[in-house]
Amino acid sequence: MSEKPFLYVVVCAAGVAADVSKLITRAQERDWEVGVIATPLAMNGFFDAAAVETQTGRPIRSAWRRPGEPRPFPAPDAVVVAPATFNTVNKWAAGIADTLALGTLCEAAGLGVPIAVLPCVAGALAAHPAYRDSLTRLRGMGVRFGDPYEGESEVDGGRPEFGWERALDLLRRE
Ligand SMILES: Cc1cc2nc3c(=O)[nH]c(=O)nc-3n(C[C@H](O)[C@H](O)[C@H](O)COP(=O)(O)O)c2cc1C
Repeated sequence: MSEKPFLYVVVCAAGVAADVSKLITRAQERDWEVGVIATPLAMNGFFDAAAVETQTGRPIRSAWRRPGEPRPFPAPDAVVVAPATFNTVNKWAAGIADTLALGTLCEAAGLGVPIAVLPCVAGALAAHPAYRDSLTRLRGMGVRFGDPYEGESEVDGGRPEFGWERALDLLRRE
């Protein structure tokens, strides 16, 4: 049994997920044991799953376990959702649990586990009233959000720094 606190990193299907290893490295440097839960779509080539499994030393979880199977991860001491998509934020706020990632998030909030979220949502989607309502609802549940991030710039083709470490800083906040 690990003595380090256990961090769930929930990964959604956004382009910046390709760099999620940066977050895992920073978390491990801060002495977190890390387990990754990815949405089914995020497993569809959004990041290097094999590299992440090597990095964490654990299989990535994406599907529900079968009844009777043991939980593969210990209970979380904290959860980071990064990157968080428009889709997952809205479904989470609505209480939908049709992916393991969403079920885990809905449950973690109810258990009072600290949760930090780094959304990666383009401005056009972020303007949708359902999204604004979702942020309000989740904040009301105590969920902590990093600054908005819109993804890759169409203008220069570059990708501004996502700032993965902000998620870990948000967890420290009282
Ligand atoms: C290449 C690519 C990049 C994407 N980037 C984003 C993104 O940055 N933010 C977002 O909300 N959706 C993004 N999407 C759309 C999501 O993948 C889509 O809404 C999906 O339903 C999200 O599923 P999930 O929330 O279960 O991971 C992207 C899709 C593709 C194909």
